[in-house]
Amino acid sequence: MTEPSFDVAHLGHVEILTDKFDESLDFFTRVYGLKLSALEGDSAYLRAWDDYEFHTLKLTAAATTGVGHIGYRVSSPEALERRVQVIEASPYLCHGWTEGDAGHGRAFRFEDPFGHHFELYWDTHRYDPPPEDQPALKNMASRFTAQGASPRRLDHVNLLADDVTEFRDFMQTCFGSRVTEQIRLDNGRLGGCWFTVNNKTYDLACTAEHSKGKGRLHHVTYATDQREDILRAADIFLENGVHIETGPHKHAIQGTFFLYVWEPAGNRVELANAGARLILAPDWETVTWTETERKKGQAWGLKTIATFHTHGTPPVKESS
Ligand SMILES: [Fe+2]
Ligand SMILES: [Fe+2]
Repeated sequence: MTEPSFDVAHLGHVEILTDKFDESLDFFTRVYGLKLSALEGDSAYLRAWDDYEFHTLKLTAAATTGVGHIGYRVSSPEALERRVQVIEASPYLCHGWTEGDAGHGRAFRFEDPFGHHFELYWDTHRYDPPPEDQPALKNMASRFTAQGASPRRLDHVNLLADDVTEFRDFMQTCFGSRVTEQIRLDNGRLGGCWFTVNNKTYDLACTAEHSKGKGRLHHVTYATDQREDILRAADIFLENGVHIETGPHKHAIQGTFFLYVWEPAGNRVELANAGARLILAPDWETVTWTETERKKGQAWGLKTIATFHTHGTPPVKESS
């Protein structure tokens, strides 16, 4: 076991691309219940009510769907320098420093072997609520307005990769991530890996790409305080004509209560509640699930829906 590194603090934000910007923005604000921090250029900067940063979701108008970039905040300016040295010395593709955007300051950009763009940053723009968004209690990031599903904070992102083992090596090298759970298929390959940089059970998951796509998104997820919030959200999605793909139910892997929907442009979005579960053991041993165990379905027996293995964004062009 390599020594865990806590130089990377947490998943900071995910940029989602949409070719139906107005409909997607309406979904993420009115129905999903994120708050709009700013509209700038082709992007909307959104956050959940208790996210402390200016944004955790950057929604960007584009010719297609999928993920733009994924940002992790580091633990200190020194931690950023240490991480960048490690990444620059690695075989992975580096794009170098950017000036940041409306949500954060300078960031170091690099890429995994499958075409997903990542960045690390320290300088951030904290959300400073205007008077009308001041919470009643000073230990909350903004007012709880119960708009739509109204999750509390960003939780995780799930990406697709042709070779999950290669992706795992990337996460361990660049982020010092630990693998909390994984799926080992009968043919010896990894079918999925769940990673964390802190004591959360996971902040990023990678599952196998079955459709020859490149750099694709499986889903992005926000966390609710309670499982009941997700049952309420299911009715909100139903009333608003949102495509409910699967759930509410409980995952076997990680034990998270979940609900998956597709936002209007087709990106898969999840609401999840992990209960009080944390990974506190510094010598946590990766939990490995077999193919047979996976075939039993989710925790309470719900079979994994077929589209879960095929649908990702952007869609894969049939002709290519
Ligand atoms: Fe960013
Ligand atoms: Fe998830």
